[in-house]
Amino acid sequence: MPPAVDPALLTRSRDVILSLQLPNGAFPASPTFSAYQGYCWFRDGAFIADGLSADGSVDSPTAFFSWCATVLDRYTPQIEEIIARAGAGDPVPGSQMLPARYTFDGGLGADDWTDFQLDGYGTWIWALDEHVRRHGVDPSPFAAAVAITVRYLLSSWQRSCYDWWEEHAEQVHVSTLGCIVAGLRSAVSLGVLDDVLASRAAQGADDVLAFILERGVHDGRLVKWIGNPDVDASLSALFAPLRVFDPASDLATETLAAIGRDLEVDGGVYRFRADTFFGGGRWPLLSCFKGLAHAARGERDEAQRLLAWAVAQATDTLDLPEQVSDRLLDPSMEEYWINRWGPVATPLLWSHAMVLRLNAELS
Ligand code: BGC
Repeated sequence: MPPAVDPALLTRSRDVILSLQLPNGAFPASPTFSAYQGYCWFRDGAFIADGLSADGSVDSPTAFFSWCATVLDRYTPQIEEIIARAGAGDPVPGSQMLPARYTFDGGLGADDWTDFQLDGYGTWIWALDEHVRRHGVDPSPFAAAVAITVRYLLSSWQRSCYDWWEEHAEQVHVSTLGCIVAGLRSAVSLGVLDDVLASRAAQGADDVLAFILERGVHDGRLVKWIGNPDVDASLSALFAPLRVFDPASDLATETLAAIGRDLEVDGGVYRFRADTFFGGGRWPLLSCFKGLAHAARGERDEAQRLLAWAVAQATDTLDLPEQVSDRLLDPSMEEYWINRWGPVATPLLWSHAMVLRLNAELS
């Protein structure tokens, strides 16, 4: 089979990410996009680090995990308060929970954002564990940060919060729960927790998993949020790379089929049917996530097809956008977002990272 990815795009993807990473390990989501400028997300960063790690980088992902650890250390008093209040049955309001993103120096920044999102706090631990197992990195410097994150997640996983797309704070999102399961399991597998916390983390992962199976499944497939039977493309991540559920399971078969039916056109994958952000286009990074799930099922042709669409979205300068505007779900909303925030975020580091990740998987 011919190589699916132009080596120049792989080189460009590595360069975009590595050249923009801050010396302290933070990754900008997108260097010039007005609304993202100056911030590093736990979610984007974790998947960026994992993409680089799978592609062979060691130091850059490690530096990102160190950045996470520094941030968690800085906010430990706030996290202890969150845990104590949750334990006392008097949880802090969502506005006092940990944010989705921080300024590069670990500050909160001055801009309003839809901040309370739990997924990234699971995902960073999962990505760290993958990195440690791939490259034999010593996990002990991350022990305190992993432990406080585990206690945070155990205290608050049942809460509603914003999802991967920073929407619907009033709902409990299945993709978010999946990231929490992955993070709790990985925390145990890293071997950095004391015995008591390790067994609490293992039990917590089982509890969240049971909750998903009881409340987050409809017609044999995963749903977008508890009580909403739609699918969301982020759900494919729960089969691969997160491996919360067996990629060969019927649950995976049905969920991927629904995502394919409802959200995919010619290899490009939408976030969810009701998406209006920039008119609701197809996201290269979501084609890569779906491709990873298919690859994990041994469906290489499907994975190649999705990867081919993602790489074909690169601009003349080999930059990958956040989304592509040719076949919008709601074209009437495109101009609103362009007027508000400027053109679609390009390059988006997460898009580049997912191409590296799926390419590594298929190579
Ligand atoms: C996306 C998030 C992402 C953020 C930064 C938002 O538009 O919905 O998933 O973390 O951009 O890339």
